[in-house]
Amino acid sequence: MTLSLERPRGMKRFGIRALLNDGWILGRRFAVSLALASATLLAIPLSASSQALHNGVATCAGSTCHGRQAADGAVVRQNELVVWQDYSSAAGAHSRAWRVLQGPRAQKIADRLGLGRASAAPACLGCHTDFAARRGPRFQVSDGVGCEACHGGSENWLSSHYTASATRQDNLARGMTALDDPRTLATTCLGCHLGSDKPGQFVSHRMMSAGHPRLSFELDLFNSFQRHHDVDADYLQRKRSAGGVTTWAVGQSMALERSLTLYSKPLGQDGVFPELVFFDCQSCHRAISDDPAATVRFGANPARPIPWGMPPYNDENMILLSAAARVAAPDLATRFEADSRAFHSALGRDRTGAIAAAAVLNTDARALSARFAGRGFSSGDTVKILKIVLGDALSARYTDYTGGVQAVMAIDTLLTALVAQGAVSPAAASGMRRDIELAYQAVRDPNSYRPEQFRAALTRVRTGLDRLT
Ligand code: HEC
Ligand code: HEC
Ligand code: HEC
Ligand code: HEC
Repeated sequence: MTLSLERPRGMKRFGIRALLNDGWILGRRFAVSLALASATLLAIPLSASSQALHNGVATCAGSTCHGRQAADGAVVRQNELVVWQDYSSAAGAHSRAWRVLQGPRAQKIADRLGLGRASAAPACLGCHTDFAARRGPRFQVSDGVGCEACHGGSENWLSSHYTASATRQDNLARGMTALDDPRTLATTCLGCHLGSDKPGQFVSHRMMSAGHPRLSFELDLFNSFQRHHDVDADYLQRKRSAGGVTTWAVGQSMALERSLTLYSKPLGQDGVFPELVFFDCQSCHRAISDDPAATVRFGANPARPIPWGMPPYNDENMILLSAAARVAAPDLATRFEADSRAFHSALGRDRTGAIAAAAVLNTDARALSARFAGRGFSSGDTVKILKIVLGDALSARYTDYTGGVQAVMAIDTLLTALVAQGAVSPAAASGMRRDIELAYQAVRDPNSYRPEQFRAALTRVRTGLDRLT
């Protein structure tokens, strides 16, 4: 039985289609030369790790296990493999992750960086495969991001997890990853979707300038796209369903923690410059005009006391977190605002001070993660957050493209949550989608992002919401 927690099908698709990788969902497929594949694999070095052995996707794929054609399992769907393998959808992205390294775009990136063959380069394999795993005999790097990359190495639970006596606790004790815990979920995804300091898990500005796409991520939205399970009655008996708003809020705070932590490490610097990937891309990548009548595109941002002309730190998560904090942790919200400002302003002085300010802000983000993870959000809370996201105070902060994108994803997620919470009918929500679509259009092309247009789109969404709530 499927409860109303189930995300309405199709609800979010338009968003990611409009926004993220234009076009590839519409059938960009990869012709894989098997000869090339095996030749490449031989060249891939093995890495050592003390973690549990990863047995490989083949060990999950049996037709009596997760390899059924239809989602008709008694407890879990059992067709998880088919969903994971569907190359034509976002849900299949992880099985495709290694294959894309064989495509021309990946090879061009690797060539520019002097990395040799992309599909064998550790700098790419860290995220496009389950590279760090200790490997069992059936493990294949060519499986890309396999089941165990998220669910944990199955060495100690493979043979017991499907038995009648296996409980959730038993599986966890044997090393299965508790992905129903929003903080564990965020940690798992962010390693690849934002980065980490583990080998081969960081997309630097050098990689982006060689052609790597930007990384854009929202935990609840992306999780819904790769989803291959139902939150039904037995699921709720076995596991926790954190709900969309909790997942979103935890995702925001943990992304900020991750970003600040990485910025503060040695990889936060590149030569005499900071690692540019942490800063707003468009602040540097703008056209310059010698026309005396030209208008500048750098806009004042009330939450960022930085000098005119300095690239701002990418503050997408700070903005959205401030909305969540005001509703769910008002006692922490004021300090969080102040510490965000202090961090921005420290960046205008020196790196040591910026790292110290990042550590303070990180403490706040950690406190917020803990608070959000342990809390449910009522539909009243969700409406309040949504109104703040759409309101004037936050709108003034969407001066950068990434903040705009993160705001649209938040609107999408929060509206979906309101439908799941029964506060907005699916019909009313789909009426609002037309306006949300306008907001998505306003962030379609990073190079033509205009904050004023974006704010106008948000005003329409807000008017629609005011009618509903
Ligand atoms: C920090 C993890 C990480 C590293 C390291 C990384 N990537 Fe990626 N890569 C991603 C993610 C995540 C995406 C998907 C971006 C999205 O759509 O949000 C991606 C997307 C891509 C794409 C576009 C795929 C498509 O479907 O169109 C290519 C090509 C690519 N990466 C190549 C590379 C190459 C080549 C390297 C090594 C030089 C590399 N990546 C290193 C995480 C990483
Ligand atoms: C990108 C990460 C990721 C990958 C890769 C992945 N999963 Fe999942 N899976 C999840 C998340 C997140 C959930 C939902 C949280 C939960 O129930 O633990 C989930 C849920 C499940 C469930 C439902 C559990 C239940 O209790 O109802 C099964 C079964 C499952 N996955 C099997 C697989 C198999 C088999 C593969 C490989 C073919 C796979 N997963 C690949 C992240 C992933
Ligand atoms: C081991 C690295 C890794 C982990 C862990 C991982 N991903 Fe991914 N993910 C990738 C890469 C690489 C791509 C891009 C593949 C491509 O474009 O073909 C990707 C693509 C995706 C996409 C499709 C993006 C798009 O543009 O449509 C979604 C959705 C996604 N991941 C969600 C998640 C979620 C949710 C989690 C955590 C439960 C997660 N991923 C964990 C590496 C990872
Ligand atoms: C502090 C300034 C700054 C920031 C911030 C910045 N870049 Fe760059 N970017 C540069 C410089 C400098 C170059 C080298 C430019 C050159 O030689 O033309 C460059 C080159 C590039 C190139 C290659 C352009 C070309 O046609 O040769 C791409 C793509 C790129 N950056 C993407 C990004 C992305 C994506 C971000 C944000 C995640 C970003 N940049 C953030 C300064 C910046």
